[in-house]
This record gives sequence, C-alpha cells and structure tokens, in this order.
Amino acid sequence: MNQENESKMTLSQEDFGLVQNMLSQRVGISLSVGKEYLVVNRLSPLVDTFNFDSLHGLIQSLHAGNNVRLWDEVVDVLAVHETFFFRDQAPFQQIEQEILPAICIEAEKAGRDIRVWSAGASTGQEAYSIAMLLSEIAPHLTKRVQIVGSDVSGKVLQAAAEGIYRKFEVSRGVSQERLDRFFEPHDGAWRVKQTLREMVQWQKFSLAGTWPTLPEFDLILLRNVMVYFKPETREVLLNRIVPAMRPTGRLVVGSAESLMSCQHQFRAVSSMNATHYLRVND
Ligand SMILES: C[S@@+](CC[C@H](N)C(=O)[O-])C[C@H]1O[C@@H](n2cnc3c(N)ncnc32)[C@H](O)[C@@H]1O
Repeated sequence: MNQENESKMTLSQEDFGLVQNMLSQRVGISLSVGKEYLVVNRLSPLVDTFNFDSLHGLIQSLHAGNNVRLWDEVVDVLAVHETFFFRDQAPFQQIEQEILPAICIEAEKAGRDIRVWSAGASTGQEAYSIAMLLSEIAPHLTKRVQIVGSDVSGKVLQAAAEGIYRKFEVSRGVSQERLDRFFEPHDGAWRVKQTLREMVQWQKFSLAGTWPTLPEFDLILLRNVMVYFKPETREVLLNRIVPAMRPTGRLVVGSAESLMSCQHQFRAVSSMNATHYLRVND
C-alpha cells in the first residue's frame, strides 16, 4: 500500500467502535478489540467499489444507515460463512438415525407437514443436507417437507438458492451415491437437482433483528452462528426460537456451542456422541 492509500484506509479507534456497535446491535456479532486489522482488510476494497474517499467516509455512511446495499456488503464480508455438506459426523448421524425418523413418524401419524429451519444457513449446504436425508428416509413425504434456510447475508442466500457447488465443495461431505442421485453436472460444477431445491425456501433476516412470521418447526438447526454472539444475545435468541418450535420440536446447535451459561427452556438429550435439545413444555 502506498502512503496515500495507507492514510485513506486508516481506521481510528472511534470508527472501529462504530463498526463494533453496528455489528453487535444489528447482527449480534461481537467483534473483539484486536480485530481492527480484519475491519481494514475486509472493508478497504469496498471504499473504491462504493466511491468513498476513505474508510472513514464509508464507516460514516454506514452509521448514517441509509445505504442498504453497502450495509449488506459489509455484513457479508465481516461474517464467517464457512460451511459444508453433512458438517460434523456425530450430530448428522444423530439427525439421520434418530431425529428425522422420529419426526417423520410424528408427521405421518398426525398427517401434517415436516418443517425444518436452518438458521444461519450460509450457502445452503446444511439445508440441502437435510433435504437429502429426508428424501432418503421418507421419499413419500417429500412433497410435505418445508425447509427454511435463513441468513443475514443476501449474497450467501443467492448462492444457496442457485444451488451450484464447485467440485471441491461437494467433495466435502457428499458421497458418490448422493452426488449421482441429488446433483447434476453444471458448467464444470454440480447443481442440486430441482426436486431438492424446491424443498427449501430462503429468507433474509437477522436473528438479532425483526423476524418475519415463521411457522412452528419440527427441527431447528442453529449451528455455528451463536458462537460469534455475546452471551446475552445468545440468551435472547434461545428464548425467541421457542415459539417457533412445535411442542415436540428439536434444536441442534454447533458442536463447539453449548447452552450452558444461558437461561433457557430446553433439556438436553445425548446419544450417539451428540446432543440435541427438546423444548421444555409447561
Ligand atoms: C459459520 S456459518 C454456519 C453455516 C451452517 N449453519 C453450518 O453450521 O455449517 C454462519 C452463518 O450465520 C450467518 N449469520 C451470522 N449472524 C447472523 C444473524 N444475526 N442472523 C442471521 N444469520 C447470521 C452468517 O452470515 C453465516 O452465513
């Protein structure tokens, strides 16, 4: 970086504080002191893209809050979107062998739909993993499956809706058998087949903001999202999802996440080296 560029991209402590506050309040993401380099590295390319004369100008515009497209880009570059198909073996075995079969039996008995919410869905691998499992476990029920994938980033949701994955992405978790059954070749990559894509609806909203009206879900996957939230934000979120669950609803969180140190209305069920949570009904 030359000298002129360096001063253009300087981040004052005050501006860093503004970014921290905006991310925390609007998205729930907690950006710790020491992450100034991350803000500079990720936001600097947006200074020219959005025709600002400096990083300071960009942050001031964000703070003024009237540039939705800029805010979307900032959230997109600052959030962590890492994901892959059938992420983490133990929880997915539990989902495949215990949780989904139980949900299918309940739904069939009651003659109702099966609803799953992948909250913090990123580019869609988690939601499509569930769609594949349900297609395998209960092919006769797939027309009654509704999966919602939600994320605060519109960009990742657009990719999720397209359902196109590079070789490297499908090689992370998709077996040859599932690749043959659920994907079709697409310009040197792989596209999730339409039958599977039709099982998922994508919705953009922040888990820390206003939610659209949601139905009651049989299963909520809230994985590797809360890890970036402050404990108080986690607690609020855990309480907000309760009304979005059927009384028999199950919650699965990320392997590195726990509900400990939060007041909540769930009880843990452990089996097959994994834990999921059931709603405690009064
Ligand atoms: C690390 S990815 C996890 C994806 C998937 N759940 C998994 O476990 O593989 C986290 C996703 O949560 C999204 N996210 C972060 N904060 C969010 C919020 N407040 N509301 C909705 N989505 C959020 C990010 O944009 C990102 O795509």
